[in-house]
Amino acid sequence: MPFQELLYLPDTDEYVEAHAVPTGARVATISGTQVREEYLAQGRLLPTWFTRPETAQILAESYPPRHQQGFCLWFTGLSGAGKSTIAEIVTVLLLERGRQATVLDGDVVRTHLSKGLGFSRADRDANILRIGFVASEVVRHRGVAICAAISPYRATRDAVRDLVGAEQFVEIFVDAPLAVCEARDTKGLYAKARRGELVGFTGIDDPYEPPLQPELHLTTATSDAATCARQIVQVLGQRGFLLPPR
Ligand code: ADX
Repeated sequence: MPFQELLYLPDTDEYVEAHAVPTGARVATISGTQVREEYLAQGRLLPTWFTRPETAQILAESYPPRHQQGFCLWFTGLSGAGKSTIAEIVTVLLLERGRQATVLDGDVVRTHLSKGLGFSRADRDANILRIGFVASEVVRHRGVAICAAISPYRATRDAVRDLVGAEQFVEIFVDAPLAVCEARDTKGLYAKARRGELVGFTGIDDPYEPPLQPELHLTTATSDAATCARQIVQVLGQRGFLLPPR
């Protein structure tokens, strides 16, 4: 059936077919992107000339404003770069802003969800995909997932980004030079790896692929963990995931 696009003329409050718009008349339009970004994501109801109030209500319920949507903070970086420390501080800052978070830390996950997995590429990928799966469920139910694992492989991180949904995924590169992580060596593992008692240690004799376009790039050799955490919260605010502080 032939279908002519109808356009709304706000000055005369009428709908006319596209070809019949009088020259010079003002035409109101809202694109699909605008519907999501400028109305639903910000909790604004769509105008009645655009859609029936009942439909606007249903759309608003199934696509809540961004501060009620879930999101995933995905920390990646070498062991000892500061992922867990920053994740802990962010968790507290988010709580202060009314958002509870589920923390999935590599070291902790490996004691239950990923118990028995080692550090081969296949095992690391299995570990990351498990964390990613849990994160995607949390986010789907409008929660906040904070994940802190080395996650050394770019392709696997990208797979998790797809799983969670790119709009909800905030990749944070916790960047510290190997020399700095090694000097910290909080768990004594770098020393073991150097002595050859531990093989396949990330950064020593196992690869780490830094993100090419992370949402956030933190350098922990030059800024402390609290500063980094505040930077993350600021970005979340700018993206609309948090309401302005009261
Ligand atoms: S990942 O590669 O699968 O993402 P994950 O973050 O879960 O790693 O675990 C890394 C932690 O395991 C390190 O912080 C370190 O304490 C410990 N670990 C033990 N062996 C290795 C290894 N071969 N490579 C990296 N980390 C290791």
